[in-house]
Amino acid sequence: MGRPEAGRLKALTCMPSGWGSVNDSVRSVRIAITHSLNGDIAPSSLLAASIPPVLRLCRNEPNLMTQHIGILTSGGDCPGLNAAIRGLGKAAQEHFGMRLIGFLNGFRGLAQDQTVELDSAMLSGILTDGGTILGTSRDKPHRMNIGGKELDMTDAIVATYHRHHLDALVCIGGGGTQKNALRLADVGLNVVTLPKTIDNDIAMTDRTFGFDTALQIATEAIDRLHSTATSHERIIVVEVMGHRAGWLALEAGIAGGADVILLPEIPYDVVQIAAAIRKRTQSGKRFSIVVVAEGAMSMEDACEVQSLVEARNAADTKSGRFEAKELLRKFHDEHVGHTIRLTRHLEKLTGQETRLTILGHLQRGGTPSAADRVFATWLGTECATMLEEKQYGMMLALQGCALKRVPLIEVAGRTRQVPLDHPLISSGRHVGTSFGD
Ligand code: F6P
Repeated sequence: MGRPEAGRLKALTCMPSGWGSVNDSVRSVRIAITHSLNGDIAPSSLLAASIPPVLRLCRNEPNLMTQHIGILTSGGDCPGLNAAIRGLGKAAQEHFGMRLIGFLNGFRGLAQDQTVELDSAMLSGILTDGGTILGTSRDKPHRMNIGGKELDMTDAIVATYHRHHLDALVCIGGGGTQKNALRLADVGLNVVTLPKTIDNDIAMTDRTFGFDTALQIATEAIDRLHSTATSHERIIVVEVMGHRAGWLALEAGIAGGADVILLPEIPYDVVQIAAAIRKRTQSGKRFSIVVVAEGAMSMEDACEVQSLVEARNAADTKSGRFEAKELLRKFHDEHVGHTIRLTRHLEKLTGQETRLTILGHLQRGGTPSAADRVFATWLGTECATMLEEKQYGMMLALQGCALKRVPLIEVAGRTRQVPLDHPLISSGRHVGTSFGD
């Protein structure tokens, strides 16, 4: 088509491209312009007749153009992800007229352009389902295993974003996802995030969805373990998840009436734990429940980690830093299973039969609790409003009773651990719980 005169170009300035019906609209406008340039028909009347309402509005109101939103879930799954996708999807489509495209399996789907259109049928009937209809992975944009090689897929991701004419990308995930989302914001993508994880350890938000369900599952498990511990007069050690934060252990321990709660934030001394259990025995209580966060550590291990971290921070060459990081990684790898060693040690010190239950991924599975459904839905619908207002580079956070928009830079790379002066720690101590210190 020839170059139209400047005066007639106005009708073209707001034309989006791509995606089904919009393409059809663009085609009709193109035909109209071609006709008008040939002098066949009066341009204004033809344009008015051929441009569908949405584009007519676009001519005067650019903000009313359909926004195209990408959405992905990344990191470990948790209950409530589907509720968030549904809340966001329904509000975005039905309230703001946006179109949603889902990327499968976290950032991998974005890098490899694996998509699913999130239409109303896809969003229906998923509120109570665990897991995520989009699938998830722990892949990072800048370090992705592709055919056995670790590649930086950032350029491929940027290309996918533009290929789908996205106005914004919503990343729903935990701490790692916040970092990856910031990386994508830094290369110019409009990114918004929602905080999910059973660990409840994302900086700047008081809650993450998934936590409440995991807390219920862990509490119910502790309740059940009580009756078998009592019947056999045993010590039962229960390991809960939480990564390097103790929120899940602290709250499940208090809710389940644990006698000992071990948190990553308070390094423990096994001799003190044994002393607390012996004291119970002397007072006639012949069973004990010990709730251990997977990231909890003995005082000796905590000292070792501290020196490894210091060595990593002090390393002034690339290879030195790499080596120090490897040592730290190795330490954490070997730390998995520390509750088995702790269980044996306790049995030896107390002379009482001791058993271990590791709750593991049970805590991440199944139907979300009512609180997680409500919170995830609220985050999703508020996220749609945020997208409508074109507020990017932010995570939605719960602060007090309100949702706040927090810059990603203030979230990424930070974790929220249990502060040592947290009221629940003193509450636990007041009901006689030992924290192993
Ligand atoms: O972050 C959620 C979480 O379940 C942590 O509590 C746990 O440490 C980790 O994920 C386990 O990850 P994966 O499922 O990849 O083994």
